[in-house]
Amino acid sequence: MSFGHLAFAIPLAAAATAGIVSLAASAESPPVAVGLTPLAERGRVLYRTNCTSCHGNDGGGVEGRGPTLEDEGDASVDFVLRTGRMPIAQPDVQATRGPVQFTEEEVVALIAYAGGFGDGPAIPGVDVAAGDVVAGGVLYRLNCAACHVASGSGAAIGGGREAPSMMPSTPTEVAEAVLVGPGAMPVFGALDEQDRDDLAAYVVDLQERNEEIELRNFGGAGPVAEGLAAWLLALIPLVALTRWIGSPHAGRDRGANPPVDEHGEVVT
Ligand code: HEC
Ligand code: HEC
Repeated sequence: MSFGHLAFAIPLAAAATAGIVSLAASAESPPVAVGLTPLAERGRVLYRTNCTSCHGNDGGGVEGRGPTLEDEGDASVDFVLRTGRMPIAQPDVQATRGPVQFTEEEVVALIAYAGGFGDGPAIPGVDVAAGDVVAGGVLYRLNCAACHVASGSGAAIGGGREAPSMMPSTPTEVAEAVLVGPGAMPVFGALDEQDRDDLAAYVVDLQERNEEIELRNFGGAGPVAEGLAAWLLALIPLVALTRWIGSPHAGRDRGANPPVDEHGEVVT
């Protein structure tokens, strides 16, 4: 055996031993880890039950199930939890927005623990009031519209991936997406805090404009209700007209069924 092989074998053996040790340790209820705040300790327990199967005990990732979290940070964990993306049911489909699956206290605890695996960006502060909608619109058209389209309602971007609608996104989620580049979205490292405020302000503006359009369209009640409303609007005058035509009218019905007197003579 050459030294090359030996050098390879030693860390392997060490890793295997470490694996056995950590397996033995996790067989009982997880021991309290040293150096964790009570909040992070709470997060660790939640992480073990909800995330370990795909991201590994220490966020190292699990082949074929979930990526490493060692390049992530608070912003990334906050984003995936508050948009309900994690935990997902199937690791091979794109994570999508859904109901948040934890209480506020659990979300904060999970961020305190899982956000610490990497030194990715912290949760960004966003000030929509300090954002310039016009500047945000320019940034949006340059950087975002190609995937999320001009209205922000999203579109398929190929490879079975979809740039989702931004209509439900909070300003913080917009800034987080720009900072961490979730899934197939790129990281926009060149955009600074002012740019993120501008973009958030523009997205809020887009959302308000979309709401107005929906309100005008029957209060945005959805295609079924709107279809029904359209039918009723067309149907009610139609029924009224049919009834009017079908009812007897003095004068109009004279030719077909003229009034007669007691002798059967037509009264004129
Ligand atoms: C069934 C497997 C599965 C479970 C359970 C799961 N994840 Fe994930 N996670 C994934 C996959 C797969 C991705 C990549 C998703 C994508 O790119 O669309 C991911 C992405 C992430 C990301 C973003 C990382 C990146 O590279 O973009 C974070 C942060 C994250 N998960 C945290 C969590 C946390 C916290 C939990 C537990 C509450 C959790 N995940 C549970 C499979 C899982
Ligand atoms: C190359 C295409 C692409 C570009 C360009 C892009 N995005 Fe995305 N964006 C995506 C994809 C794909 C996702 C979904 C990520 C995932 O799988 O979780 C996403 C997700 C988002 C979300 C989360 C929406 C939700 O469902 O909660 C926001 C907010 C967002 N992007 C904002 C932006 C902004 C702002 C820009 C411009 C600075 C931008 N994106 C540019 C592809 C893109």
